Amino acid sequence: LGWAVVCLVAGYVCGSIPFGLVFGYLFGLGDIRKIGSGNIGATNALRTGNKVMAGLTLAGDILKGTVPVAVALFELGPFYAAVAGVGAFLGHVFPVWLRFRGGKGVATYLGILLGIAPLGVVVFAIAWLSIAYLTRYSSLAALVATLLVPIAYFFLGYPAAALLTTILTVLVYLRHHANIRRLIGGTEPKIGANKA
Ligand code: G3P
Repeated sequence: LGWAVVCLVAGYVCGSIPFGLVFGYLFGLGDIRKIGSGNIGATNALRTGNKVMAGLTLAGDILKGTVPVAVALFELGPFYAAVAGVGAFLGHVFPVWLRFRGGKGVATYLGILLGIAPLGVVVFAIAWLSIAYLTRYSSLAALVATLLVPIAYFFLGYPAAALLTTILTVLVYLRHHANIRRLIGGTEPKIGANKA
């Protein structure tokens, strides 16, 4: 149990680094929570118009999922990797530094998949890219991708990964309640548009 707590806390600390906020300030763009959807993720970072900053936010938010999961996997094994992944995800979504008001978890979800069972990355990437290409909605792409990943793991014979990603997918959906309302209402902004 001791190592599980270490993995959870270490994952949380990594996950709680708000790259969108940090890069927003480093690039002199100010607090990205004041624009667009108010989210700290790469989609909202792109609403600053700075693609490099948005790209770095995406990379940072992915890696903070991958790194703790990969370290726990190599040092301790798959169960601890899953615990580290949950920690990283919770850190991103509920960072103590931002009074627990963090992001929506999509990039970090992808990062966790990369560390745990990269097959999910393929499913995620195909789903996300095709929905984003067809509809230009980042949120819808994320909702479809995170729905398909646990289903794919389940049918491809990865029950543990299916269970883990089901939990994460439920959290992603809860974090997208405002996006879901806007998608239904037809007011969700498309990728690269400035308003949310
Ligand atoms: O990854 C987050 C995305 O699904 C939605 O972001 O800023 O449009 O609410 P945003």
